[in-house]
Amino acid sequence: MHCRYLCAKQYIINAMKIYPLLLSLLCSSAMCAETLHLSTPSTSLVLDATPGNRLSLLHYGGRVTDADIKNLDGGIDAYPAYGIYPEHEAALSITHADGGMVTDLSVDSVTKSQGDDGAEITTITLRDSAYPVTVKVNYRTYPGEEIIESWAEITNGEKGEITLNRFMSAFLPVRMGDVWLSSLYGSWANEARIEQRPLTHGVTMIKNKDGVRNSHTSHAEVMLSLDGCPSENNGRVIGAALEYTGNYKLMIDTGDSNHHRFFAGINEENSAYRLKKGETFVTPPLALTYSAEGLSGASRNFHRWGRNHRLHAGDTPRKILLNSWEGVYFNIDEKGMDSMMADIASMGGELFVMDDGWFGTKYHRDSDNAALGDWTVDTGKLPHGIDGLLDAADRHGIKFGIWIEPEMTNTVSELYEKHPEYVIKAPHRNPTTGRGGTQLVLDMANPKVQDIVFEFVDTLMTRYPRIDYIKWDANAPIMEHGSQYLPADRQSHLYIDWHKGLTATLDRIRRAHPDVTIQACASGGGRANWGMLPWFDEFWTSDNNDALQRIYMQWGTSYFFPAIAMASHISAAPNHQTFRRIPVKFRADVAMSGRMGLELQPRDMTEEERTICRNAVNDYKQVRHIVQLGDLYRLLSPYDGKGSASLMYITPEKDDAVFFWWKTETFMNQQLPRIPMAGLDPDATYTVTELNRIDNTPLPCEGKSYTGRYLMDQGLELPLTHNVDYHKNTDYSSRVLRLTVSK
Ligand code: DGJ
Repeated sequence: MHCRYLCAKQYIINAMKIYPLLLSLLCSSAMCAETLHLSTPSTSLVLDATPGNRLSLLHYGGRVTDADIKNLDGGIDAYPAYGIYPEHEAALSITHADGGMVTDLSVDSVTKSQGDDGAEITTITLRDSAYPVTVKVNYRTYPGEEIIESWAEITNGEKGEITLNRFMSAFLPVRMGDVWLSSLYGSWANEARIEQRPLTHGVTMIKNKDGVRNSHTSHAEVMLSLDGCPSENNGRVIGAALEYTGNYKLMIDTGDSNHHRFFAGINEENSAYRLKKGETFVTPPLALTYSAEGLSGASRNFHRWGRNHRLHAGDTPRKILLNSWEGVYFNIDEKGMDSMMADIASMGGELFVMDDGWFGTKYHRDSDNAALGDWTVDTGKLPHGIDGLLDAADRHGIKFGIWIEPEMTNTVSELYEKHPEYVIKAPHRNPTTGRGGTQLVLDMANPKVQDIVFEFVDTLMTRYPRIDYIKWDANAPIMEHGSQYLPADRQSHLYIDWHKGLTATLDRIRRAHPDVTIQACASGGGRANWGMLPWFDEFWTSDNNDALQRIYMQWGTSYFFPAIAMASHISAAPNHQTFRRIPVKFRADVAMSGRMGLELQPRDMTEEERTICRNAVNDYKQVRHIVQLGDLYRLLSPYDGKGSASLMYITPEKDDAVFFWWKTETFMNQQLPRIPMAGLDPDATYTVTELNRIDNTPLPCEGKSYTGRYLMDQGLELPLTHNVDYHKNTDYSSRVLRLTVSK
């Protein structure tokens, strides 16, 4: 019999703080089996942490009872190391100081500590009997949240250097059955597209090697649907999100065992990491969640935890803004900025953001090929400087924001002329350039570069404390493997040390300037990742603002990220990327489902477009707290090809909701499904009000009341088209309905 049963001593590490005291007593006897139960309100992760044995995972999924735990068996190594049975994929691979390649870890001790935000951290220390390396496997839970984070800390206690060849954050075995993987793929202007497939034998790999941005193409987050074809509101789902800013690797290895073996961590390719004696390598955390309420349930778990603990200022509703990029591109001037500010203020907006093109003295930023790093105002364009713009914003009664790209420079810049040693560059070669034929990436591994980036942002904010918002862009990958700062024997540290430097700098900036709103933009949606968001309030979802394509991209983005962080702008028609002409009502209805803003030249709008936008801004203000802070229920996926898509947001109290419906294709006499709603209180009665209405007559359901039960069972009948004057008809149709509990 396994010794766990001999000593049936169980310690509950509970997010609800039920039994917090006992952990210090853990593992008093090497003979005593230790079962660790890490729980959230409705999930459990159970480990066998018997000293002297491998740490093994007994269960991850729905919450289990002590009675269930007693009978769990078949544990699987929770953090497999490379060397013994080397044919298996491992979470950790070390070349020891003596050249040995085998690591074999067993439990030494268990400790518990208090983290930030009331979190509890359980640390299981593993040791190798042959080598003095220590691996701490950590698990973090938060009161009331359905997330368990896991990460590892590897310490070299050997006499010489060791090399980490692989250093995953976490490993999770998932029992085979009919398991489906949902992941996000994409490219510039087509980010966060969903792909769903059953897991089959072999290795499924999702990885990133950009070096700077990590969510343009694939994403560092996945969902695993355990009960067959993924469903939005039914079935068991495990969600996993790697909280890392840089290159990552998610790998699912399905071989001859009964489990899909899921590994997640920093991508180790070309990144072997050397540790001197006494040094520790800390991996980024992997956030895991489990829901029996389908993909939407797992998304809600990520959103709630993210808003409460990860996203900067996640509880503060965001302002409605106009961004200048698609309105004027690089053609910044004082008069133009003033007129855009007046326009957004007149439509009820709260913030104006001046995008790229405002800086450069010796070299001017008139295009994308010069002046990054020369963060001085181009007084030819802005004679009264930033103060002049801030005064104008004050006059218009709105806030002011500004675009920067601090991690970059151009070969055509004063910064590069003075400090060519600050850029990423391999020995014996001219640096490889990117955007505009001249863009270069600064070497964030270099502390001097970290200082200049900090000092630039710090000076900007100190000199102009009225700046309310920063759009922080990043428009290049690491274009060649070479750091002019790192020594020859540490060149393989570049990808990792670059991100250590970036995050240390962001830490300094946030300590000095906690209140400014900062958007993570990276050629569009290149930085939508939980690794970035502790320092950022939101991310730019895509450079593609085409409302129809946005429905698909925002659907995918919403798998892991809440609407409050997902910037979604009304742009011009024809759209600048797809050239599609979409009526402003539809454009507004899509933007309203995220963090709404505008991205166009208001001067070019028709009076009717202005009116619709003004109404949409006003309506959005009424429901912003529901969209940005509420619970998301995705109802009908655009990917299902049913001709329409629909989702809704509901307050945690379930007393107020916003329902979105968009027609995604148009045919004569088409028959579209009625959409049963979700997440409402079945016994409450909700009154319907259409928002952003353009129809000449109200909807049949306008002002009527329905029980939550009826709405979730039947949904509402929605007309396929809008009732507008004949010449205003288009092939687009969409609805936004507010459902308020009748008092
Ligand atoms: C890329 C961003 O995604 C755009 O929104 C814009 O800010 C440009 N950079 C400016 O160069």
